[in-house]
Amino acid sequence: MKVTKAVFPVAGLGTRFLPATKANPKEMMPVVDKPLIQYAVEEAVAAGITELIFVTSSSKRAIEDHFDSNFELESSLIKRGKHELLEIVRGILPEGVSCAYIRQKSPQGLGHAVLCAKQLVTNEPFAVLLADDLIDGGDRSCLQQMVEVFNHSQSSVIAVEKIATSETKKYGVVDVGGSHERIANIQAIVEKPHPDKAPSNLGVVGRYILTPRIFGLLEQTTQGSGGEIQLTDAIAKLLKEQHVQALQFLGKRYDCGSKLGYLEATIAYALKHPELAVEFKECLQGFI
Ligand code: G1P
Repeated sequence: MKVTKAVFPVAGLGTRFLPATKANPKEMMPVVDKPLIQYAVEEAVAAGITELIFVTSSSKRAIEDHFDSNFELESSLIKRGKHELLEIVRGILPEGVSCAYIRQKSPQGLGHAVLCAKQLVTNEPFAVLLADDLIDGGDRSCLQQMVEVFNHSQSSVIAVEKIATSETKKYGVVDVGGSHERIANIQAIVEKPHPDKAPSNLGVVGRYILTPRIFGLLEQTTQGSGGEIQLTDAIAKLLKEQHVQALQFLGKRYDCGSKLGYLEATIAYALKHPELAVEFKECLQGFI
């Protein structure tokens, strides 16, 4: 089977960026000139995804507007002859790609958010992308690399990267039985373990390809770490029934859920932006 659907859990409150996220979704925060959610959508589309499923909450209307057409803006750009900008605006959602929105009524965790998408995903493998994790995969995006692994094995794939042992409390952590391969079968997975209890230093980043069996397992999953329904806990159950692989992807991930990671991403993306790179570099040198 092919992966054509992607779930974007975007219902979170974004408290780490208050007050910026009081009225604006954190996924709409721009890195240079594009909102985080658009980077995630572009990554999904580059990997062959054609159905985007957003799990939203009441304060996230800006995300729906961003992926919808804006007649007033487009006609104004046409009148003023701003064709390049018109192309940019019209290209936000490429031809042949559709969006669906479903509300997560209360914030009960990532696992619960993914479960909200069950009716729309139906009985197919699907991707999950957390827009907070901005990943520059170079020529082959992280999700593209994962789809290649999935196409080969038809089993779930989770993106992982090496993290500092002191950081395990921020991530899902996998046990790959000491394998040093870039692709390895996961033997155990645990959400946000204390460094003393972490099975390895491979942390889960916000990219998953999951088989639909996960929904039944999520339905049986009770509150875990932080009192939330954790996707990690359902994956731990999935491991007992099916292979789940960890992929150490090629590329650089920026943790845009933290202020420091967000600033780092802004600098990195500005330094490779065709219009800004040269001047921005000079500007940065002025600070050093
Ligand atoms: C979520 C997952 C965690 C994963 C992380 C990646 O945590 O629960 O397993 O490592 O995303 O960004 P959150 O960052 O939402 O607390």
